[in-house]
Amino acid sequence: MRLRIFNCSPKGRKSNSRLISGAFARGFCELPGNEAEEFFVAREKDMEKGLASFGEDGINLVVFPVYVDAMPGLAKEFIERAALFRGRLSGTRLLFLVHTGFPEETHTRPMEKYLNKLAVRLGARLDGVIRLGGGKGIKVSDSPQKNKALDELTRLGQSYAVDGKLDARILERLAGPSRIPRLVALVMFPIVNYFGFGREMRKNGAWERRFDRPL
Ligand SMILES: Cc1cc2nc3c(=O)[nH]c(=O)nc-3n(C[C@H](O)[C@H](O)[C@H](O)COP(=O)(O)O)c2cc1C
Repeated sequence: MRLRIFNCSPKGRKSNSRLISGAFARGFCELPGNEAEEFFVAREKDMEKGLASFGEDGINLVVFPVYVDAMPGLAKEFIERAALFRGRLSGTRLLFLVHTGFPEETHTRPMEKYLNKLAVRLGARLDGVIRLGGGKGIKVSDSPQKNKALDELTRLGQSYAVDGKLDARILERLAGPSRIPRLVALVMFPIVNYFGFGREMRKNGAWERRFDRPL
């Protein structure tokens, strides 16, 4: 079985989407006869090549991050161009993988609803929507927590290769908690703000203007 990965992150090869979908593909390809190829649709050449194969038999895995509570414009463009295959996808199975920087599953919940609708509109068989919370640190961190998520994705790919189903328990763990406990948030948010967003602001000379807001 062929797994085609459509990487819809504007960061392309340097994206977390690549690492995240790669972990799933690793597990999937452990089954003899399975193979995977990835299209970085941020490159127009890849976009066209990928779209040319979108309607072929096999599995299409569309992966993208959440940017500003929505899908990146590139993912939207890809979906709109893939919509030309509407009604001609009977041999194609569809998977979506959507991930966020924030850990709570609430950030991907509306997207999951939309992607379920989208599959119906495309007339494609949807095998499921994989949601991953807290994916931002995956590239920079080798903390056991982040590796655990990648390991879980590999296990998900392994079991999906065998029976074509996404393990519900793994999906739930990957999606993340609905809420971060209040006490943890009180300690964690100031640290994340100072060292995460704060570092970016200082690097870009925006620290002094951090409380700016629209008029
Ligand atoms: C412009 C921008 C906006 C983002 N907005 C959100 C957001 O609304 N919610 C969230 O959880 N993460 C947000 N993130 C974090 C990304 O989802 C996260 O870093 C992700 O791993 C990036 O994936 P990529 O490297 O495949 O593009 C944002 C990142 C960027 C660069």
